[in-house]
Amino acid sequence: MEFRTFEHGLVDSTSERAFAALSEGSARHGDVHVALGQTLGRGRRGTPWVSESGAGLYASVVLRPPKLLAPAALTMGAGLALRATLLELGLERVQLKWPNDLLVDGAKLCGILSETRGLDPAALSFVLGIGINVQQLSFPEELLHERAVTSLALCGIQSTPRGVLARLLPHLAQEVGRVESDPDAIARDYLAATGLTNRRVRVLSGESEIEGRLCGLDLASGLGIVHADGSLRRVRLEHVRALGAIEP
Ligand code: BTN
Repeated sequence: MEFRTFEHGLVDSTSERAFAALSEGSARHGDVHVALGQTLGRGRRGTPWVSESGAGLYASVVLRPPKLLAPAALTMGAGLALRATLLELGLERVQLKWPNDLLVDGAKLCGILSETRGLDPAALSFVLGIGINVQQLSFPEELLHERAVTSLALCGIQSTPRGVLARLLPHLAQEVGRVESDPDAIARDYLAATGLTNRRVRVLSGESEIEGRLCGLDLASGLGIVHADGSLRRVRLEHVRALGAIEP
C-alpha cells in the first residue's frame, strides 16, 4: 500500500477533506489527509472530536480496496495498528475497547471512525479517520465532564503528531493488507488483544444487554457468549454497541 500525504492547516474535518477528494474523483487508495487542527472534528454517534491545533494527530486515510472489505475487520485492523504503534512508542498499558477506542487506565487516548458514503456502489471506498491525543496537557472541562481522556504526553510519552503518523502508517498498511487477505486472523488477534477471552462480559446488542462468558469472536457468526446455564448465544458484530468485562 502506497501512501500519499496531504497536509492541511486548520480544516473542518480531515474525513470531510478525504470525502471531498473522493467526490472530485482525485482520491487514491492510501491517500492520507492530515491536519494541524479541526474545527468540526467528529467522533462516533455524532459526538465532536476535540481537535486542538498542533496537539493531536488528526488523520483520515482513503481506502479504495480492490474487493469488498468486512467493515468490522477494518475497524478491528485499525485498532490493532494503533495498538502496535503505541506499543512501539513505549506505551504498554493500552486497552482496546469495542469497537474502536484505545484507552489507558480507562481514559480515552485514541478514536477510530470508519465511514463510507454511497459514492459509487461498484467501487466501494472507505475513509478511516484516526484521532490520537499526543501533546495535550489539559482538555476542555465539558469533555472531561463526559469521560476520562488522556494523551501520550500525560502518559509520559514524548512525541509529535507527525512522529506518531510516521510510525502508524506501516502498521496500518500491514493490517489493511490482512483485512483483505485474512480477515479472520484480524478477528482472532483483536480478541486476543482485548484480553477478554473466557472472561465474564456484558454486551450491549441493539437495545438488549447480554451477560455471559466470552468464548469467541468471528466475522461470520459474531461474538460467542456462554450463559450461566451453559447455552451458547451468538451476537452479530454489527449489532454490538459495547463489550466489556464484568469485574468479579
Ligand atoms: C471516536 O472515537 O468517536 C472516533 C474519533 C475519530 C476522530 C478522527 S480525527 C481525524 C478524523 N476526522 C474527524 O472528523 N474524525 C476523525
